Amino acid sequence: MQAIQYQSFGPSDVIVLSEVPQPQISNDNEVLIQVKAASVNPLDIKIRMGFMQKMRPVQLPFTPGLDAAGEVVAIGAGVSRFKVGDEVMAATMMGAYAEYIVAKEDFVSLKPQNISFAEAASLVVNLGTAQSILFSEGQLESGQKVLIQGAAGAVGATMVQLAKNNGIYVIATASGKGVELLQNLGADEVIDYKTQDVTTLVKNVDLVADCAGGETQSKLFEVLKSGGKLLSIAGMPAPELAQKYNIDARFISSNLSAKSLENGLNLVSEGKIKPIVAKIFPLTEAAQAQDFVSAGGMHGKVVLAVR
Ligand SMILES: NC(=O)c1ccc[n+]([C@@H]2O[C@H](COP(=O)([O-])OP(=O)(O)OC[C@H]3O[C@@H](n4cnc5c(N)ncnc54)[C@H](OP(=O)(O)O)[C@@H]3O)[C@@H](O)[C@H]2O)c1
Repeated sequence: MQAIQYQSFGPSDVIVLSEVPQPQISNDNEVLIQVKAASVNPLDIKIRMGFMQKMRPVQLPFTPGLDAAGEVVAIGAGVSRFKVGDEVMAATMMGAYAEYIVAKEDFVSLKPQNISFAEAASLVVNLGTAQSILFSEGQLESGQKVLIQGAAGAVGATMVQLAKNNGIYVIATASGKGVELLQNLGADEVIDYKTQDVTTLVKNVDLVADCAGGETQSKLFEVLKSGGKLLSIAGMPAPELAQKYNIDARFISSNLSAKSLENGLNLVSEGKIKPIVAKIFPLTEAAQAQDFVSAGGMHGKVVLAVR
């Protein structure tokens, strides 16, 4: 089968389209999926550059891709929730830039019928991450307040929709055209982080969901109520600030299991959460797709069309 690979870490020109053996089911709980679309995540670029080798080492040659959508072509003997021909979306954590992937049943969900394969691929990381921050770790309840930093990004825009549909009051930050996007998605308040100071405009939120990281993260402690939570997917919060402001501040790794996606996928099926696909590239242009993500400035997910 065809798959994207690289033999060394570095800029996007290390990426090549290769002919590799098709993966096979080797455990009873696995599903073989013919990939129709795979998403491009910022993590793919950090792994390719070799920046993740201490935290999340990979072996070369490596096929990137955390998540995909496609059709089930074979199932292991112990698989009960899927049959051949089902249209699904799955998290594999590697290898999704390819014509076939093997995924564990617990990380596979049925694709809602009202969305395309590209839209489904775009949602796996976004929904799983949003659910992890807001509810599994954030423990938010209806009526509580969240500040979502970097809310016009792929994860953030999905998080805004998931939060609003679960009765959460949403304050969201973005810049430029992202402000209008978030207003259209139903955020209660939108702050342009380039022209406005979030610390003077926001106080006493229950949770900060930080999807941007960087230097601005340290200011976000000031908008929380004492005893609140600062959960980041983009950078480790400073322990001394957590202590100073009495905040439960942590870096979060998202749970991408089917269980974690369930709440969001129900809302997608009902048309209440809209996937946002920024641009679709063919698999052969995976390098250009990663460069497009690296350049930033887009809204939504970049997706590779595989078949
Ligand atoms: N830990 C995990 O499990 C996990 C899971 C998923 C993603 N992530 C990480 O989370 C981050 C976001 O992912 P993504 O896919 O949503 O990326 P993305 O689509 O590139 O979005 C990032 C957003 O951050 C915003 N931003 C940048 N600097 C900002 C600042 N100083 N203040 C406020 N917003 C700022 C940008 O907004 P503007 O365009 O408006 O400037 C952009 O929309 C990435 O670093 C990714 O690797 C981690």
